[in-house]
Amino acid sequence: MTAPQIQPATPDSIAEGGRLIAEGRLVAFPTETVYGLGADALSDKAVAAIFAAKRRPSFNPLIVHVADIEAASALAVVDRRAREVASRFWPGPLTLVLPRRAESPVSKLAGAGLDTVALRSPAHPVAQALLAAAGRPVAAPSANRSGEVSPTLAAHVAASLGGDVALILDGGPCRVGVESTVLDLSGPRPAILRPGGVTREALEAVLGPVAVTGDPMVISSPGQLESHYAPGLPVRLNALERRPGEAFLGFGATPDADLDLSPSGDPVEAAANLFAMLRALDRPGFRGIAVAPIPERGLGVAINDRLRRAAAPRPLRSE
Ligand code: TXA
Ligand code: MG
Repeated sequence: MTAPQIQPATPDSIAEGGRLIAEGRLVAFPTETVYGLGADALSDKAVAAIFAAKRRPSFNPLIVHVADIEAASALAVVDRRAREVASRFWPGPLTLVLPRRAESPVSKLAGAGLDTVALRSPAHPVAQALLAAAGRPVAAPSANRSGEVSPTLAAHVAASLGGDVALILDGGPCRVGVESTVLDLSGPRPAILRPGGVTREALEAVLGPVAVTGDPMVISSPGQLESHYAPGLPVRLNALERRPGEAFLGFGATPDADLDLSPSGDPVEAAANLFAMLRALDRPGFRGIAVAPIPERGLGVAINDRLRRAAAPRPLRSE
């Protein structure tokens, strides 16, 4: 049965979503990357409700969604580099970390007290229509509990967050399937903080050399990889065959796989399938999920980043 708060995205349900956000409620909505858990970015109370619903540590800042670069420039200092990448990749799966304007009305809680702000203009028409209906910037992390696999279907949101959302707008499966690339342009050297839907090569074609650092939330010393994007079952990477009791997630027509991320070996198709297939194999009856090797090229970089965290030790899961 469909959860009552899931509604097909129509002009009426989107208008209702805009009203709910203006009232400080939580609305989940589709973007081209993953579903977002949206709230009024100007309201401390609404932003606090996001952290509570996700059970997310409040030192991990949120992405603020805006219609376009003009809306972004009211909130952050947009320099020439930011304008150039935005004109090439917005709307789309790219988040820009920029210096926060002193007079920015965005809730300080959304930025976890940092003097920067992460901004993204999503390409999904439902996300854009919701931003217009809400008439304000919308803070939105992925619509899952902290640490879990991100949602690429409305049903995933209902399963993760159930009663904590006022409305889930259903726009079908997300086209890209992994989160946006987070690009830090707040300092002199552009740096990728999280690989995602826009590749490093594509960014370098516009910006010149782009550094890659760890996500600010990742403890990168050996063996200390933060567990994230994790299904309930343990995940084993670069598997060439299944071990007894394991589910097997293949790539490029892996023989004997239960599911294959892309039988033709296409990283774009694999990214779109990644989170839904991890969820589908995360079920009693299996004792773990083995994943075939994914080439580290194009979107494969973002896929492998997510898979490494899915396979990381899970110290926080023992509560
Ligand atoms: O594709 C996406 O980006 C999705 C959709 C819904 O837009 N959103 C998403 O949000 O993935 P979330 O909250 O799950 O991930 C936001 C990432 C986190 O790694 C966070 O640490 C980083 O962006 N971030 C946010 N603000 C930041 C800032 N001011 N400086 C550095 N990193 C920041
Ligand atoms: Mg997330």
